Amino acid sequence: MVAIIVHGGAGTIKKEERIPKVLQGVREAVLTGWKELRRGSALDAVEEAIKALEDNPIFNAGTGSVLTIDGKVEMDAAIMRSNLNAGAVASIWGVKNPISVARKVMEKTDHVLLAGEGAVRFARLMGFDEYDPTTEERVEQWKELREKLLKEGNITHWKKISKLIKEYPEVLRSTVGAVAFDGEEIVAGTSTGGVFLKMFGRVGDTPIIGGGTYANEFAGASCTGLGEVAIKLALAKTAVDFVRLGLNAQKASEAAIELATKYFGNDTMGIIMVDREGNIGFEKNTKHMSVAYMKKGMKKPFTGI
Ligand code: GLY
Repeated sequence: MVAIIVHGGAGTIKKEERIPKVLQGVREAVLTGWKELRRGSALDAVEEAIKALEDNPIFNAGTGSVLTIDGKVEMDAAIMRSNLNAGAVASIWGVKNPISVARKVMEKTDHVLLAGEGAVRFARLMGFDEYDPTTEERVEQWKELREKLLKEGNITHWKKISKLIKEYPEVLRSTVGAVAFDGEEIVAGTSTGGVFLKMFGRVGDTPIIGGGTYANEFAGASCTGLGEVAIKLALAKTAVDFVRLGLNAQKASEAAIELATKYFGNDTMGIIMVDREGNIGFEKNTKHMSVAYMKKGMKKPFTGI
């Protein structure tokens, strides 16, 4: 049964008027992916759905990515097929669609992950034009939050940011992702600007195969939330293993989030999944996580938050 699910990030959306725009964004992305899926390719479906999310400045990926402590955009992305082919980029800048660069890493190199300057150089070699994903809204947000961080004294970085996230939960609206099954293969992909005010060079779970992104013959998974949590729990792979052990995509998503909550508390994590029966799964321990999905037989997408 062919199926696709996308997410636009887990967190809290404080400004309620943003919710319809976020839902419209995931709806458009899932329809973009669905068009490709109907042509038969889960790989194209995941790439195109994620590109639609990256190009929408309301989401924290591609255009609209959050800024590092020193005011730069450093993006992460990964894509993985159920035959275990995978490609990823970490701390990349100056490109419009990191997910497409990640796909090129998978298809054109023997490597899995390219980072920083090397990833940018590879993107140029592959013909990706220079592009600045910084938006005015993110610059304003960066100024406000950075001032707050600095006012409170010494930057012992992560603890303070964790505190700020509690105070401003809306800024943890991180990451976009898609998982699709075309009847033959499962593909999972994730893309993000990371966590706001992150340290230069910080890499989250998104491009870590098994951390924030994973696919094999049993299922695919894409995570969203605090990357350090997903990395420490190898959460995407753990969730897929739950399917191998007999759970469907929904039950596996619930078990994965239960694990994240048990070790790291609420407001940390969300996940979407598709298994090899075409079952959809999604779960979160945050207030919101925008999702949209389509399965064979559905006339219009389900959207939820
Ligand atoms: N989940 C996105 C990040 O932590 O970078």
